[in-house]
Amino acid sequence: MQKRFKKKGGIVRSNSDTDLKEAVHKFVTNANEQRFSEFEHIVIIKYTGSQSLFVQTDIYHFDKPVTSLIKKMPKYRNETQQQAIKAEALTQMKLFETSYREYGGQSICPAIVYVDMEHNDIYMEMIGDEYKTFSFYYDEYFVKQNIDKITMSEVLIIYISCFIELYVVFKILHKDYHRENFLLSLTEFNYFGEKVRGRPIVIDFGYIEEVTKETSYPIENEDIIEYLTKMVGTEDIHRVYQFEYYMNELNMKSTYMTQQVVMYLEKRKKQTEVNRANFSAKVEHEFLPKIQEHNRILFDQIEKSLQEQQDKPTIQTKFPTYFKKKDEQKMP
Ligand SMILES: Nc1ncnc2c1ncn2[C@@H]1O[C@H](COP(=O)(O)OP(=O)(O)O)[C@@H](O)[C@H]1O
Ligand SMILES: [Mg+2]
Repeated sequence: MQKRFKKKGGIVRSNSDTDLKEAVHKFVTNANEQRFSEFEHIVIIKYTGSQSLFVQTDIYHFDKPVTSLIKKMPKYRNETQQQAIKAEALTQMKLFETSYREYGGQSICPAIVYVDMEHNDIYMEMIGDEYKTFSFYYDEYFVKQNIDKITMSEVLIIYISCFIELYVVFKILHKDYHRENFLLSLTEFNYFGEKVRGRPIVIDFGYIEEVTKETSYPIENEDIIEYLTKMVGTEDIHRVYQFEYYMNELNMKSTYMTQQVVMYLEKRKKQTEVNRANFSAKVEHEFLPKIQEHNRILFDQIEKSLQEQQDKPTIQTKFPTYFKKKDEQKMP
């Protein structure tokens, strides 16, 4: 079955008259609920409904109904967890919006649909089934031998490119960038250009750091491992070694990887230009305002609750420039 255009692309309410909280509540109560996964601190519930109170925002899927949502809920409701979940939601909302704008209508992470401040639950769009984690591809190649080496190498190139893109373009150091926090569809063709397959989505912004260091420069001919080491710092070197480990497993030389990553990032830039040329008016005047309105409601809600709980300072300390920027700009 061709699954090329399945669910991906951010969310806005189909009817902005409906109250956001009400819309989520209605969706959830009428949806089929399923425990999706469970990790150390987090439970993930998937809701599949028939009513479409939300629509997608990706330029290639715009206005298509959204029929499934994910709820990410912390198991323990202590203060640290609360802080973490709110910081995560704010980070992801910001990245969603900035990447959507930057890429002319295609974001790099899932949209936040709603944050339940009372329970610290985050509702976000469910990324479609054709998006698989790096782990999945890894097993397909190394264990099950269902995919070939070229495909697996391609997956690794995109995996590394995406980490660099987050760092260079969005000034985000994803400190939990591992095999389960990267989703990739190999059947989408509009991310790196029409003829190059692959569409990555990054998730899990529980641990990120804003990049202020001078090292946020584009990779050119530098050895990729050295480049990445500078990025993450020597304390976090294990993440670089993880990339290196996969490269070794695939017998990919560092010079080859450098070239490939540069090429992918270049293609990404070109595709961005194409998207902008084709959709700029729609993105600027139609789609983006809807996303901004949506995010503004969520921002206000989160900030209000933070003030009530007087836990704002901690988050501000963790994301200094983010709060500064937001206060200066005040989302339109
Ligand atoms: N929006 C989403 N769409 C589809 N799958 C998701 C989504 N968010 C999370 N998942 C799946 O759930 C797993 C755990 O989610 P994550 O946000 O990484 O939680 P944790 O903080 O516990 O690591 C991911 O590895 C992924 O497989
Ligand atoms: Mg995770």
